[in-house]
Amino acid sequence: MAHFTKPAAGSWTQNYPELGTAPVDYTDSIDPAFYEDERQAIFRKSWLNVGRVNRLPKVGNYFTKELACVGTSLIIVRGADQTIRAFHNVCRHRGNKLVWDDYPNEETSGTCRQFTCKYHAWRYGLDGELTFVQQEGEFFDLDKQQFGLKNVRCEVWQGFIFVNLDENARPLDEYLGPLAKGLEGYPFEQMTEVYSYKAEIGANWKLFIDAFAEFYHAPVLHQKQAVKDEADKLAGYGYEALHYEIAAPHSMISSWGGMAPPKDPSVVKPIERELRSGLFGPWDRPDIEGLDPLPEGLNPARHKAWGIDEFEFFPNFSLLFWAPGWYLTYHYWPTAVNRHIFEASLYFVPAKNARERLAQELAAVTFKEYALQDANTLEATQTMIATREVTDFPLNDQEILLRHLHKTTQKIVEEYRNDRAG
Ligand code: FES
Ligand SMILES: [Fe+2]
Repeated sequence: MAHFTKPAAGSWTQNYPELGTAPVDYTDSIDPAFYEDERQAIFRKSWLNVGRVNRLPKVGNYFTKELACVGTSLIIVRGADQTIRAFHNVCRHRGNKLVWDDYPNEETSGTCRQFTCKYHAWRYGLDGELTFVQQEGEFFDLDKQQFGLKNVRCEVWQGFIFVNLDENARPLDEYLGPLAKGLEGYPFEQMTEVYSYKAEIGANWKLFIDAFAEFYHAPVLHQKQAVKDEADKLAGYGYEALHYEIAAPHSMISSWGGMAPPKDPSVVKPIERELRSGLFGPWDRPDIEGLDPLPEGLNPARHKAWGIDEFEFFPNFSLLFWAPGWYLTYHYWPTAVNRHIFEASLYFVPAKNARERLAQELAAVTFKEYALQDANTLEATQTMIATREVTDFPLNDQEILLRHLHKTTQKIVEEYRNDRAG
C-alpha cells in the first residue's frame, strides 16, 4: 500500500476530487424514504460484520443477530466441519422464529447439536439441513432436502464474521479491499478479553459515525473530561489528525495519541497514574508477536506521535487500533431513520495479574464516559436537522471522512433509484 505524507494545508479533501468541497446535504439522515432505499441499496447488499469467531470457539456454538436494517434475524453457527455458517432464523414449517430464549426479539447464544423449533419440534442440523419432521407421514410428498434453513452468505476475514444478504455480492476480501489488506497479521486472535457496551441512540446511524470520524470536536466536547493541564495541551494542539485515506467505499483516519503513557504523568488523574491506564488504554504494551512491527496499514504516515488508527468499513463497522496494543470495534445498526443501536467492544490481551486487569477496566470505563459525551449531542442534532430549516452543512478538511460517508451513501442510493426507475 502506498504511504502518503500530509498534503499542503487544507487539501486532504481536494486529494479526492469526487468529494467536492461544497456544503453537504444531510437529508440522508432524516428522510424516511431515503432510509428505506438505504436499507435495500446498502444494508441488503453490503458485507456486514456480525462479530468475531471468538464467540464461536467450538462446534455447535451459535449466536443470533437481530438485524432490523435488513428486516431479519440470523443464526450464526459453527458446524461439525468447523465452517461458520449463517441462516435466516426462520423455521421452514410455518415460519416460527427458530432460535430464541425468553423474549423472541432478543439476541441469544449457546451451544447445541441441532436446532429444534419450539412450535412443532422440527429439527435442523448445524449445517441447516432439516433432519426431523414430527409425524412426517402426515405430510404430502415432503422432500426434507428441500426444506433446510435458508442460507445467508457468510465469510470470515481475520476472525471477523461477515454476512451479506445479496447472493451476487463479490467476495468479502475483494469488498474490504486494500485498507483491510494492510491490517492482516494484526494479532486479533490473541486479544480475547472483551468489554462490550450497547445503547439505543435517537439519531441516524451516520450521525454517530460522523461523531467518531473526526477529531475536530475533541478539544471542545471532551474538554471537561481531562484535567485542566491536559485539556489545555489538547486545545493547544489545535487538534488535527495525522493522516486520512479513502479506498471507496471504506476510509481511515490516523491520529495523534500521546497519552499512553503521557509525557508528563502529573497532568493525568491520580487513578490513571496509579493504574497506568486511561482513555488511550493501559500504558504498558503487551509483549506479543504481531505488534512489533505493526502491519503496514497501521500508522500509514509513519508518525512518531501516532496513537490511533480508525478504519471505517462501509457501511457500519469501525475498527480502531491503539498504539498501546489493543483494539476497539463499533457497530451502528439502524432501526429507523432516526434511531440506531450502537455497539462498542474493547479487545485486550488477557490480563496476567490484578493490576493489568484494573488497567483494562479503567480504560473501559474511561472509554464509556467519552462515548457518552459523543452520543450526547446526537439526539439534539437529529431533532434540529429534522426541522429541515437548514439542510446543507459546510464540512471542513478534517471532516473529510464524514463527507465521504454521506457522499458514498447518497451515490449508492441514487444509483439504486435510477436502476429502479430505468
Ligand atoms: S413452525 Fe417450526 S415446527 Fe412448525
Ligand atoms: Fe469524541
